[in-house]
Amino acid sequence: MKISIIGTGYVGTVTGVCFADMGHQIYFVDIDQKKLNAVNSGKSPFFEPDLDELIEKNRKKITTTMDISEAIKQTDLTMICVGTPQKRDGSSDLRFIIDAAHTIGKALVNNDKYHTVIVKSTVLPGTTGKVVQPVLEQESGKKAPVDFGIGSNPEFLKEGSAVKDFFHTDRIVIGANDPKTKKTMEDLYKPLLAPIFTTDIQTAEMIKYVSNAFLATKISFSNEIGNLCKANQIDSYEVFQGVGMDKRINPHFFRSGIGFGGSCFPKDIHALIAFAESQAIDTKILKAVLKTNDDQPQKLIALLKKHLDIQGKKIGVLGLSFKPETDDIRESRAIPVITELLVAGAEVIAYDPIAMPEFSVLFPNILYTDTARGVFTADAIIIITEWPEFSRLDYSGKIIIDGRRILKAKREAAVYEGLCW
Ligand code: UGA
Repeated sequence: MKISIIGTGYVGTVTGVCFADMGHQIYFVDIDQKKLNAVNSGKSPFFEPDLDELIEKNRKKITTTMDISEAIKQTDLTMICVGTPQKRDGSSDLRFIIDAAHTIGKALVNNDKYHTVIVKSTVLPGTTGKVVQPVLEQESGKKAPVDFGIGSNPEFLKEGSAVKDFFHTDRIVIGANDPKTKKTMEDLYKPLLAPIFTTDIQTAEMIKYVSNAFLATKISFSNEIGNLCKANQIDSYEVFQGVGMDKRINPHFFRSGIGFGGSCFPKDIHALIAFAESQAIDTKILKAVLKTNDDQPQKLIALLKKHLDIQGKKIGVLGLSFKPETDDIRESRAIPVITELLVAGAEVIAYDPIAMPEFSVLFPNILYTDTARGVFTADAIIIITEWPEFSRLDYSGKIIIDGRRILKAKREAAVYEGLCW
């Protein structure tokens, strides 16, 4: 199949390159020529394991252009993969989706072939049907699903393992209100041999938000219980190992500690809360999930203060990205922790294998070191991200406050405090 991917951000690039690897011809469209140049030169526009190799391998099946009309003319299916950033009030900003819909709609005017438009960006229920579809219809003068297909196909990729997740997903969710779009999408995904769940468009949109909200709820729940375990000298990881053996519960996403960050969980939960509030529906659990998450960094600092008066002391920070295998620092727990350390008058020295360039834009005035060992000149060390290399360091003789449970640090440190264990 020939597929246009609108937006070479994280979702678009991974999805497009993986479809190319499945044998499809991909047209990447972006307003940022730099991102397209990166793809053209066989490189991912951002760090993601395995992606460079996959782009290089599939270069012949990849075309890049800034011209949506051209891409649509050449293809049968378009996936909208542009960003939906968070607005000040927590709701999502649909500007990029609406812009894309206008341009796609115009391109559909002179397009004789049947074309299917799929929204892959994370959008609240109703967006594809009540916002995107009317714009497409108005601009093209055509009607869905008679003249073009429309559907939703939320993504469940995780940063740092996105390529693997694409090919080995637990499920594919397709939202389609007509049989033709449903069949197009099911045929596209069939070769992956993953369970396909097909439903209507609104439900598919909701599944994406509820999945992220539930995962974040599991994390905040594990943190709340973890704080209680810590106060009673109980290891929350052992507790959740035992709890997770119940198939109704399952053992995943109970890694208690410093909390969740990234571009998805915080943003999506804020959007879901705003969505509910716009209908006068209260979401007590979701609000508590965010509040628990916001409080964990404070608890880490409190543990540090138990062992050290941090005013004027040098505090080392291991890990700045929101999770390992990415240089993404959006909503990283390193941000509130370092802010708090600076407010308390500490000097901060930080290390991350790949996120330091990004982080130094946000925090230009802290010290950075080229090696993890460089952090060990500090009076005490905080662990924020569980990069594999942190499990090979020698922690002997140090004060370690651990937000992510590095067992080697637990065994070796002179003073060790795990956040929830
Ligand atoms: C998340 C979801 O896991 C994906 O399924 C979804 O597609 C994606 O959001 C999205 O909406 O695009 P991602 O944000 O890349 O993926 O990363 P996760 O691995 O889910 O981790 C999110 C945060 O939760 C990280 O800060 C991680 O350290 C933290 N976390 C995760 C915990 O604190 N404890 C856990 O047990 C698991």
